[in-house]
Amino acid sequence: MSAEKPSRRQFFKKALHLFWLAPAAWLLSGLVRRTEETGEIRERTVELPLESGEAVRFAEEVILIRVGNDYRAFSAACTHMGCRIQRMEGEELVCPCHGSRFNMSGEVLRGPAERPLARLRCEADERAGVLRITVRA
Ligand code: FES
Repeated sequence: MSAEKPSRRQFFKKALHLFWLAPAAWLLSGLVRRTEETGEIRERTVELPLESGEAVRFAEEVILIRVGNDYRAFSAACTHMGCRIQRMEGEELVCPCHGSRFNMSGEVLRGPAERPLARLRCEADERAGVLRITVRA
């Protein structure tokens, strides 16, 4: 029993299918990639009391800094490898893992981190007495 050898016509017909299949697979993979990328961006809101009397607050994934009547919110995730920053030394925010330091504007004072802390959207709702901070989940 021997397998029949495909004719030249059959061979080119199969090759033509592969010719169309490759770009279609490439387009489909790009569509899936884009869907995954947009699906990962999820936001949630953290509410903190408006008045606490503290100039700097560490609230889980948020660092909140009061400057006069304004507030600056930063992600507490260190931009080096993501350790959570939860303490200060003097006027500097200090990462517990490898010692990066950031100023009150989130800028790097000392590495190994190279990028500033991520600034978070922060809105005061004086009627409700809260600050609403948008964090990425
Ligand atoms: S994770 Fe913060 S310095 Fe490395």
